[in-house]
This record gives sequence, structure tokens and C-alpha cells, in this order.
Amino acid sequence: MRRPWVGGNWKMNGLRADHEALLAGLQPLAQMTAVDLAVVPPAPYLAEISAQLAGSSLRVLAQTVSGHAAGAYTGEWSAAMLQDCGVAGALVGHSERRQYQHEGDAVVAAQFRALREAGLQPVLCVGETLAEREAGETLAVVSRQLLAVLESQGPEAFDHAVLAYEPVWAIGTGLTATPEQAQAVHASLRAVVAVFDASRAEALRIAYGGSVKAANAAGLFAMPDIDGALVGGASLDANEFLAICAAAQARVTG
Ligand code: 13P
Repeated sequence: MRRPWVGGNWKMNGLRADHEALLAGLQPLAQMTAVDLAVVPPAPYLAEISAQLAGSSLRVLAQTVSGHAAGAYTGEWSAAMLQDCGVAGALVGHSERRQYQHEGDAVVAAQFRALREAGLQPVLCVGETLAEREAGETLAVVSRQLLAVLESQGPEAFDHAVLAYEPVWAIGTGLTATPEQAQAVHASLRAVVAVFDASRAEALRIAYGGSVKAANAAGLFAMPDIDGALVGGASLDANEFLAICAAAQARVTG
């Protein structure tokens, strides 16, 4: 059984006092030892939240990272800087970065590589838009996004990584993929990795993201290839996030 992974992507929300209150409400996560847990705060707060959570089981990830090592890239930060600030990894390829910052597959692959080279954990996000789903292109799109890393960096690149399937039409819309819809895509993603390396495919954690909340988490986690969740809106509410993490923990402990 793969160890579940749950991340809370706070996106561009909350000021320091809000984050402090949220983290105080997340104290019970310390008891959920069967799950890997992460929070993904806005960049200005990464160093202080990492320092605050040092020694706890809750890891801190960034929402993005540069694919470049250093230099004249105003407004960006490197994987080495994240590592230096105690940050454990970063999301790459989130659909909001793909859409608003025009980050394509090659940029995302470079970001993924930069994280690995700094010894940090990449969380690769893939997902189709509603138009792509309606055109029957879901598997072609998510496979292309995954292969951009897999073909250039090999299956071993995923040894410490997490893959997150986040259908764009389900993000922040209240429309969740049904457990069966998500399971079908997760199984297909795992099959793509298996073409390269069957045992690594079996070990890879694939989390689902898109309007996950306490009310639908257990149904998603009941699926054999849904190993966790990347949670947006519901991660800003301590009780909702705790309940989602508890559902992930129950996937292992029953
Ligand atoms: P919501 O849970 O708000 O739909 O966001 C999902 C997401 O984008 C997590 O990265």
C-alpha cells in the first residue's frame, strides 16, 4: 500500500495572522503519522513557516520554482534558495501557472529537474481543461504533460516525487471529478509510467486535486489509484483539511 500524501495549496490567500491561526488549528495533524502531509504557502512566508514547522511532520512546499539555477530572472527564486530556506519541495505545472504565466511543458520539466538537483521534492501537476475533456483529449493531454518529464529525466526522476492529477474544470469550481472519473485517469497515468518501469509505477503516489473537501475525500480515497489529494480552497479551513487528512489516514489504518 502506498503511503498517502495530502498537500494544502493555499494559493495567494491569507496574511500572517491568518496563516498562524490556520497552523494552530492544524496541530492534530501530528497524530496522523500514516500520511505524508504538506502545506504550500505563498512565497513571502515560506522561510518563516518552514522555520516554525521545523521538526514537525508537516512539510512546507513552494507553489512554483524557477528552472534556472541563478542570475537575471527578476521575480523568480531558485530551488537552491528554497532548500536554503528549509523548504522541502515545490509544485510544478499547476494549471494556474500554465494558464496565467504561460508555463509550458518544457519550462515545467526544467523546474522539475532543478528541484531534483537541489535534493527537493517535485509535485508535478497535470490536468485537462473542460474543452479538452469534451473533445475526448483527456488522456492525450495528461500523458503529454507527464511524458515531458518522464522522457527527458527517466522514471527514476519520480522516486521522491508526487504526481497530482488536477482537472482544470474541477479546480475551484465545486465540480469534483467523480471517484470513477479520477480513478480512470490515475490508472492511465500509472500505466504510462509502467511502460518505463513497472515497479516505480506501482510505488508512485498519484494525488487528486479539484474541489476536494471533507464530504468527498473518502469516496476518492476508496479508489485503488488515488493515493491522496492536493487541496486548494478546503485547505484554508483547518477543520476541513483535518477531515481530509483523516480520510487519507483511514485509507491505511481502516
Ligand atoms: P480547489 O481545491 O480549490 O479546487 O483547488 C485545487 C487545486 O488547484 C490545488 O492545487
